[in-house]
Amino acid sequence: MAEKRTVLVTGGSGFIGTNLVRSLVASGEYRVVNLDALTYAANPLSLADLADHPGYVFVKGNIADRELVTSLFEKYQPAGVLHLAAETHVDRSIVSADDFVQTNVVGTYSMLEAARRYWEALTGNRKDSFRFLHVSTDEVFGSLGAEGYFSEETPYAPNSPYSASKAASDHFVRAYQHTYGLPTLITNCSNNYGPYQFPEKVIPLMILNALSGKPLPVYGAGANVRDWIYVEDHCRAVQLVFEEGKPGETYVVGAGNERRNIDLVNQICSILDEIAPPAEVHPLRERGLESYSELIKFVADRPGHDHRYAIDSARITRQLGWQAEVGFEAGLRRTIEWYLSNPEWVDKASGGSYGEWIEKNYASRGHAQEEKK
Ligand code: NAD
Ligand code: TYD
Repeated sequence: MAEKRTVLVTGGSGFIGTNLVRSLVASGEYRVVNLDALTYAANPLSLADLADHPGYVFVKGNIADRELVTSLFEKYQPAGVLHLAAETHVDRSIVSADDFVQTNVVGTYSMLEAARRYWEALTGNRKDSFRFLHVSTDEVFGSLGAEGYFSEETPYAPNSPYSASKAASDHFVRAYQHTYGLPTLITNCSNNYGPYQFPEKVIPLMILNALSGKPLPVYGAGANVRDWIYVEDHCRAVQLVFEEGKPGETYVVGAGNERRNIDLVNQICSILDEIAPPAEVHPLRERGLESYSELIKFVADRPGHDHRYAIDSARITRQLGWQAEVGFEAGLRRTIEWYLSNPEWVDKASGGSYGEWIEKNYASRGHAQEEKK
């Protein structure tokens, strides 16, 4: 059997990281060294079953800790880096961007600098084949009106502190390729959904609030549009770009599932009505609710809320043959079923400081402005 390739994955204990690490380890082709600080967004249960797997090594630590990262390069001699670690929640970045600047900008710079020094000392094929893949977001491009799509040619116009910090990190990655020749790649993907997503993000938040009979807080009029991709489709794209992408290139990634937030929430409610009927779920039955959609509440909008994201994935399809495989309805059902089947994971995610965040974010949005009939 061919020897496994060792890769350094950062942020492997988060939502996308967990799905990516699982898929890389399951392929049998990789030994994954996962460097993760285990912030509030990481759930220790997500990768617990891999703890003793020979293809998996966990290192708890901060990407901005240069000494630690340098020692990991020396010890594990990775064939490349898949850099996902980041602060990722827009609403938190609006409350305070300190951690976003520290991790997304300073942390990424530090990863690049450690990677560059390691790569410069490599020789031959190991040097030629080394890759640094930076996983980024389509939010760096700002907001679209009713028409048009983001592509690799779209100018950067980040609007939130989160997207500004990701844009800054993208620029550092680009500069390291341009200046030093470090073989970097960037992916800018649209909104992901699927198993293991921390429930501050809209899809798991709505699923879990619904099941406990809590309000479903839709920002503004619910008319903002996101382009949804099932996380496993994104992870396939990331692996493909890492293995076959052209160094220096960026790839935008999306699955062509544009939905207005209100339509998304209604779709979640109608799937839940079918698979977890309100008459059989205690908090809903008690209140005599017949559909989860009766829980929808319109609340104060997000400041600077980007109106629409939508992706034109032509380049990655043309160059690398990638295409999304999971349809939106099927992916949403899988996701809802996963949250229903993993109560321990959900309990862990909803413990800790989660309650404080929910209080901080939603109490300040005031009471429901309008109840949906
Ligand atoms: P997440 O918030 O679920 O997980 C982030 C992970 O990074 C956590 O495990 C956390 O502990 C770790 N981390 C944070 N700060 C760290 C630090 N200083 N050092 C080491 N580890 C640290 O995020 P996600 O949704 O899985 O996103 C992963 C990446 O993909 C991010 O870079 C994000 O910008 C990008 N992205 C996300 C989406 C999406 O819809 N979720 C879409 C496109 C791109
Ligand atoms: P989110 O999951 O935070 O992702 P992002 O801001 O990175 O796109 O939000 C997705 C959309 O859902 C966004 O338009 C904001 C909206 N939203 C709500 O309407 N209510 C909520 O409680 C949350 C968290 C988000």
